Amino acid sequence: MPAPCDTEIVDGPLLLRPWQPDDARALEAAVVESIDSLGRWLPWCRAGYDLAAAQDWVRRCEQGWAEGEHFAFGIFDRTHQRLLGSVGLNQRNLLHRSANLGYWVRQSEQRHGVAAKAVQLVARFGFRQLALQRIEIVALPDNQASRRTAERAGARFEAVARRRIWDGEQARDGAVYALVPEDLEQA
Ligand SMILES: CC(C)(COP(=O)(O)OP(=O)(O)OC[C@H]1O[C@@H](n2cnc3c(N)ncnc32)[C@H](O)[C@@H]1OP(=O)(O)O)[C@@H](O)C(=O)NCCC(=O)NCCS
Repeated sequence: MPAPCDTEIVDGPLLLRPWQPDDARALEAAVVESIDSLGRWLPWCRAGYDLAAAQDWVRRCEQGWAEGEHFAFGIFDRTHQRLLGSVGLNQRNLLHRSANLGYWVRQSEQRHGVAAKAVQLVARFGFRQLALQRIEIVALPDNQASRRTAERAGARFEAVARRRIWDGEQARDGAVYALVPEDLEQA
């Protein structure tokens, strides 16, 4: 099922929409601000992250939407259009109607409920627009913020899967959470 690349999701103070080329500068600023809190968990978030890296991400996201494989949204404050973070579905498995869900929130906007809400909104998009039956969230076992976000969004913990995550240098175990459509019925 196709998903339009002009999809916008609005809920309360949040606006989620696919990345656009004009977002690259704001993305660079958000990542650079957040290296301390994101860098520990996201291997691409390192000192030296620059505008070219942000532009490359936006290009890859546009391609992901066009190919129906990767659905990345910027999370914005609806009133001021300030970039708050990123959330998206990737690793889509067409055979089994499943996908992975990833997220980050810029350092200055963490702990205000942004990630938990954005996860629910994008999961609902995945179930309704992409007909997904299962959405996985996989976190490093000691990433308490990510694990708690998954739980807060309604995902259920299933297992610690051995060597589930390649972090760029080594295989790490992953705490696997999943959302299925029924999980969001009361949310
Ligand atoms: C994980 C992350 C996205 C959470 O974003 P956020 O907007 O601050 O999360 P929320 O405010 O929606 O909080 C969701 C839950 O996580 C908890 N939480 C958030 N940050 C936490 C932290 N540093 N330590 C412990 N719990 C934390 C919140 O208290 C809340 O739980 P509660 O409702 O029981 O109180 C953010 O910390 C981040 O970007 N981390 C680095 C990137 C990352 O790890 N991404 C996930 C990779 S799998």
